[in-house]
Amino acid sequence: MAEQTDRPLSPATTAVTAGRPPHAPDQPLNTPITMASTYGATGDLEYGRYGNPTWAAFEEVLGTLEGGRCLAFSSGLATVSTVLDLVGQGATVVAPRHAYNGTVMQLADLEARGRLTSQLVDVSDTQAVVAACADAALVWLESPTNPALELAEIETIARAAHEAGAYVVVDNTFATPLRQKPLSLGADVVVHSATKYLSGHGDAMLGAAVTADDSLYDVLKGRRDLVGAIPGTLEAWLALRGLRTLHLRLERAESNATALVEHLRAHAAVSEVRYPGFGGIVSIVLAGGPDAADRLVRSTSLWVHATSLGGVESTFERRRRWKSEPATIPEGLVRLSVGVEDVEDLWADLQQGLRGLV
Ligand SMILES: Cc1ncc(COP(=O)(O)O)c(C=O)c1O
Repeated sequence: MAEQTDRPLSPATTAVTAGRPPHAPDQPLNTPITMASTYGATGDLEYGRYGNPTWAAFEEVLGTLEGGRCLAFSSGLATVSTVLDLVGQGATVVAPRHAYNGTVMQLADLEARGRLTSQLVDVSDTQAVVAACADAALVWLESPTNPALELAEIETIARAAHEAGAYVVVDNTFATPLRQKPLSLGADVVVHSATKYLSGHGDAMLGAAVTADDSLYDVLKGRRDLVGAIPGTLEAWLALRGLRTLHLRLERAESNATALVEHLRAHAAVSEVRYPGFGGIVSIVLAGGPDAADRLVRSTSLWVHATSLGGVESTFERRRRWKSEPATIPEGLVRLSVGVEDVEDLWADLQQGLRGLV
């Protein structure tokens, strides 16, 4: 093999090169899809629920990008569930009131069954979050939040949480490790819905947890082995393939989003534009309220009315159409997941949808 330099690789190079078979004659350059429910006995793997070479390749890439060791799960919410299980019976979990709705629903379900107490906070109010940390066993952060796009001061909150002896978990789905590395800001565990940007093509469901703490890794791996919330091999391979172009897709989505934000801020039908300054998610509030928002999502041809986000294709959705969405999210809020299409085409389509909504 050619000599390596000591220079650390940039994330773009890691995304392309990590998790590959060794460079050797007749080795495939791509990681094969290993369909296997069992392996020859007495090795490291033993059984399909304990490990798989295709998952391992995905885990190597994402773990390297986040700066820890990664475990893939069957979905983002399976990961959330496994990580929330770190806390003991009756513990308090602090979480953003505008965290991904499925996470808030899981907390509510656990609370209703007496498993834990949740304390929901405005994650952008650092002092309030720091004050809440005092009673917490686990502080859950999401930054930016979905779909309010609030930002958390991860470093300050992590310090306060650790002083209180609490775990700090950051859902990094929106920022991706290319825009935010929570482990370097003090988080103990990073969680992803890899269904979104990491896979990026709207064709796979997968989750991931990353930690730099070996004992936490062992606990989470033990839970995955025991509960069986394991990824499908094909899904892990699709997500691995998606990761290879994450930097390119994100750059394009971001430059498209930046241009659209400028147009939207100047449009009379839009009363508010929320954009954290990076990433491909933009939330707009329609001046005409929910009716205008419902009309918009029915009146475009490129923008697809669909839930989920982070794919190459542009999608949008009025979030309050879901009964479970909190009342503090405006009725007329539409979350845009900006894709990688030509931005002029995207704006022309959106502009014609907004016509008549003023
Ligand atoms: C921020 C965030 N976290 C977690 C999830 C849950 O992931 P999954 O749908 O892969 O279970 C989602 C899904 O939308 C999400 O947006």
